[in-house]
Amino acid sequence: MQPETNEPAAAEPASEEIIAPLPRITLQAFCETPAVAATMQTAVADRRMDKAHARVQMGGPAAAVEAFRSAPTPNIIVLETVSDPATLISHLEALSESCDAGTKVVVIGHVNDVQLYRDLIRRGVSEYLIAPLETLDVLRTLSELYVAPEARNLGRVIAVMGAKGGVGASTIAHNISWAIARNLDASTVIVDLDIAYGTAGLNFNQDPPQGIAEAVFAPERLDSALLDRLLSRCSDNLALLAAPAVLDRTIDIEEDALEQLLELLRASVPCIVLDVPHQWSHWVKRTLLGSDEILIVAEPELASLRNAKNLVDLSRSSRPNDSVARLVLNKVGMPKRPEINANEFAKALGVEVLCSVPFDAQLFGTAANNGQMIAEVQASGKAAEAFTQIASTLTGRGEAKRSRRSLLEPIVAKLKRRKAS
Ligand SMILES: Nc1ncnc2c1ncn2[C@@H]1O[C@H](COP(=O)(O)OP(=O)(O)OP(=O)(O)O)[C@@H](O)[C@H]1O
Ligand SMILES: [Mg+2]
Repeated sequence: MQPETNEPAAAEPASEEIIAPLPRITLQAFCETPAVAATMQTAVADRRMDKAHARVQMGGPAAAVEAFRSAPTPNIIVLETVSDPATLISHLEALSESCDAGTKVVVIGHVNDVQLYRDLIRRGVSEYLIAPLETLDVLRTLSELYVAPEARNLGRVIAVMGAKGGVGASTIAHNISWAIARNLDASTVIVDLDIAYGTAGLNFNQDPPQGIAEAVFAPERLDSALLDRLLSRCSDNLALLAAPAVLDRTIDIEEDALEQLLELLRASVPCIVLDVPHQWSHWVKRTLLGSDEILIVAEPELASLRNAKNLVDLSRSSRPNDSVARLVLNKVGMPKRPEINANEFAKALGVEVLCSVPFDAQLFGTAANNGQMIAEVQASGKAAEAFTQIASTLTGRGEAKRSRRSLLEPIVAKLKRRKAS
């Protein structure tokens, strides 16, 4: 949970771990202690369980046996037990008589007993967890029941949205994607969700015949082969799902279609950057809050401050198990404009400003007109550095410095390992 005070929370780098959202499953948990019940409650309220139907109740394995004597079993049953192994096993045996074939059982116990663990796995229990538990431990375990081991290296979804229209959100989304692909060496896909007006194609000097529209308006055709054809390559490591930017239809995206697209992308690329338009419809809200990282772009002025505060507060209250939305100030230092400074933003929002990107009409205008990224126009300026720094915080990755790696590095690493053992 975030502190109540308005002391800005420092911008921690993103964690390396990504937990995939669960599919549309049903789950019932039968707990025996208030602590585990509380953890289960926070787990089922998490964004990654949005599609699941879950119920948490007390009574432990005995209550589960009773409940499913005549009722069908859900996809997952979670049982907390405080009793001895023999009692647990007898409850599991009773339960197995009424369990449907596809039901998975997860047991939460209070003893670290390898023999019991092996016994439970042999009897078909999917996982044995030991209390006390963190919410993320529960989510990870449940999520892994539905993600094939080979697909566990999941892509991170980063949503970038402006606190106001025209603040430079798309420019920042494209430039940080470029920095992630180029400087941090992670394959990245940009998804331009501004279907009617998106600028990713222009900014990368690409005019592909197909892109995001084919993916979200005909979801029944979407598979990895089609997705591959819809992506336009910007560089070795960077691809784009471009917006058609035509007005031949109005845009109402089906949430399920978008989710299917993101699921496919998550399974095949390490990093997915969403250029989210400055709108507030159901799909925008759901996509923003369902992402692994949220980046809000604001200008240093009042309307941006108010809207950014609302977005940060919403992210904080609705995503208690995630890092809070991050904030970038853009177009800082515009001549003659009175500005609200980064400290005041931080104080009002309760989060540190991750980065301030300077206003530079010449540089940004040249890049936009040429269809180039900022670092391609000016490799070692403040703006290019800012984009690498933002990229690194959002991905939890350091800059890939292979070319500048010291010759001594492997030897130093070996010495460190030796010292540690
Ligand atoms: N730091 C900056 N200095 C000067 N110009 C900038 C800067 N950042 C962005 N711009 C310019 O501001 C304009 C708007 O940028 P962009 O389209 O990225 O904003 P947006 O927030 O995505 O807008 P929209 O709400 O239309 O999606 C562009 O012309 C871009 O080149
Ligand atoms: Mg935009």
